[in-house]
Amino acid sequence: MTQDAFVLLVTDSVDRTRLLARGIERVLPCRYATPDDRFPSDRPLLVVVDVDTERPENAACAEALIRRARTGGIACLHLSRDAKMSASRADAPLLRVMAAGAARATVFAAMLEMIDLGTRAWVARKRRLEARASKATGIVTRLFDTAGAGRPLSSDEADSGTDAVMEAVSDVGIRSWLDIVWKHDALVYQHTLSVAGFAAAFGAQIGLSGADRHRLAKAALLHDIGKSRIPVEILNKPGPLEGEEARIMRTHAALGADLLLAQGGFDPAVIDVVRHHHEKLDGSGYPDGLAGDAIADLVRIVTLCDIFSALTERRPYRPPMSATQAVSIMTGMRGQLDRSLMHGFAPVIAATQTEWA
Ligand SMILES: [Fe+2]
Ligand SMILES: [Fe+2]
Repeated sequence: MTQDAFVLLVTDSVDRTRLLARGIERVLPCRYATPDDRFPSDRPLLVVVDVDTERPENAACAEALIRRARTGGIACLHLSRDAKMSASRADAPLLRVMAAGAARATVFAAMLEMIDLGTRAWVARKRRLEARASKATGIVTRLFDTAGAGRPLSSDEADSGTDAVMEAVSDVGIRSWLDIVWKHDALVYQHTLSVAGFAAAFGAQIGLSGADRHRLAKAALLHDIGKSRIPVEILNKPGPLEGEEARIMRTHAALGADLLLAQGGFDPAVIDVVRHHHEKLDGSGYPDGLAGDAIADLVRIVTLCDIFSALTERRPYRPPMSATQAVSIMTGMRGQLDRSLMHGFAPVIAATQTEWA
């Protein structure tokens, strides 16, 4: 988690909820929002919804908030004016609905209970995320070390690393995944886990089947495996690469594909991604100068994830770019990237801007 826990109180009347807010503030910081506001991008520990749902726009906002909290695994207390609403729903353990007119002490007690539930959910989510990130990092480190030493790579191990990334991204979202993997010291592992996270999120966004999503995320996890054979002084150079250094670095795509091919047991579609993720639709990429239809969709997707990730990651010689700057550079690469896939990628980019989907 990147920020301190807080309660988000969404209300259409600050006056009406003043006492409730004071009660919340005795326990946790409280941030107000009206239904028309942009909600904070930081993840709340508890969302309290107290809006007059007689107004259709408020009702729609309450519904959307409750859905968003539920998707994000965030505790939610809905103070409802709708008598038909039940006190809680079995299928939504983190949601509590109670009458807005209930006695103040009852509302306050429910709120404390929900803060407790929210805290437990928060801690459990953090533990799951850390466990998956550490598992995936361990696997990526081993894959790179093994490949670097010329020992046989395990496709099964790459599968379990891929599963850890996919589970984490579907559980906590792309933002929290990036927050944890971008803390890694080794840039090549950080980049690999980040691109794999983007690919997992992208695959889910465009509705790929489970097997295709896995193939995509696995290809992303392995896309730069050839960098294990690049001299460390070039790989870790604290500045842009020039001339011969850049030429050597560019060999990583073919090196990685050759390595997997020689190893055997890797899906040809995955090897295709590893070899061709630096190709461009106009034929200006490498190593084969492929153009247009010769570049498979899976390759095109990983290319987008790779470029967006590289631009927004920190580098020793430049600060990370904002998502807006990265998108503007990518849209400026006319004729090189797949425009319709770029549209499909937009919601994933948007999701990097908020901790709760
Ligand atoms: Fe690469
Ligand atoms: Fe890359």
